[in-house]
Amino acid sequence: MMNACIVGFGAIGPVHAEVLSNLKSAKLYAVCDIDKSRADKAAQQYNAKAYYNFDECLNDKNIDVIHICTPHYLHYEMSCKALEHGKKVVVEKPAVMTKDELEKIFSEYNVENIYPVVQNRKNICIEELKRIASSDKSIGKPIGVKGILTWSRGASYYNAADWRGKKATEGGGVLINQAVHTLDLMMYFMGAAKEVSASMHNCSLQGIIEVEDTIDAYIKYESGATGIFYATNAYCKNSSVQLEFEFENRSFKYVEGMLISNGEVICSDSQEFKGKDYWGNGHAKALYDYYENKDRFSLADIKDTMNAMFAIYESAQNGKSVIV
Ligand SMILES: NC(=O)c1ccc[n+]([C@@H]2O[C@H](COP(=O)([O-])OP(=O)(O)OC[C@H]3O[C@@H](n4cnc5c(N)ncnc54)[C@H](O)[C@@H]3O)[C@@H](O)[C@H]2O)c1
Repeated sequence: MMNACIVGFGAIGPVHAEVLSNLKSAKLYAVCDIDKSRADKAAQQYNAKAYYNFDECLNDKNIDVIHICTPHYLHYEMSCKALEHGKKVVVEKPAVMTKDELEKIFSEYNVENIYPVVQNRKNICIEELKRIASSDKSIGKPIGVKGILTWSRGASYYNAADWRGKKATEGGGVLINQAVHTLDLMMYFMGAAKEVSASMHNCSLQGIIEVEDTIDAYIKYESGATGIFYATNAYCKNSSVQLEFEFENRSFKYVEGMLISNGEVICSDSQEFKGKDYWGNGHAKALYDYYENKDRFSLADIKDTMNAMFAIYESAQNGKSVIV
């Protein structure tokens, strides 16, 4: 049995708590939030300890795993401190917020002890596509990928939490926060990027956020494949992410929880987990695999995604293509 502590009990912390409370190999032992009422309420609900200061969690020897569900600018520092105190880390996206943090964490820490929450990789359709891509040689090599996210985030979303919408605390806008999972799935199948060319805009939230609400990128992969990526928070609703994966001899579409090939639905995602459906429903599977199956991604598995993301931001910022 591993004792888990959730740090940050805002929108996503409770999703982790709900999943943890249904696992056999994990116990929700503590909850930490600087908002005392949130920590107390959660502690009471889950019969857990309440902490209001992260350092207290670090010094509690009963805690084995720290789930970092705090704003982006705290992920790097909290992950490093947790590792220094001998804890394992489950960290929400983005695992780190800057390229500098990415480089430092790889050079100074054992990143195998960091489990990044990339729950969309655990969707049934994505696991099935991974199985096909790695076992069915007849489909040929990957040659192209398309990822499109069109969601809606207005002033009320940004005003609900101080850290959102600011470069220093969110690290960017729609890419680093909402569309990083879409980019991650593109990278999961295409491998490392070689060069990116990108642009970004604030179309709908001028005066409300200082980061982008819309971003696009053209990605050249080391394999020779190419990718098109588009993400916006300026749509009228949260519609399903659309992904297309092109292999030499076969195409796959992933949309609305269905994997489609040759005009046929070949796989559907589970509807068991009651998360917001446009987030995907993979948190339950991601945490189940971590604790029960010991089937764990590490930070090394998402390095290509993080490198591509920082290169896209650099290119969009400078207006020039960037070698990754
Ligand atoms: N994987 C997903 O699909 C998914 C979905 C939503 C959010 N997230 C991620 O989860 C993280 C949190 O997002 P959110 O929307 O829940 O944010 P939020 O603002 O709703 O909640 C953050 C919580 O952290 C607490 N907090 C802030 N500083 C703290 C500190 N020093 N110590 C302890 N607690 C502190 C806040 O009081 C708040 O309760 C972000 O990284 C976000 O990108 C991931």
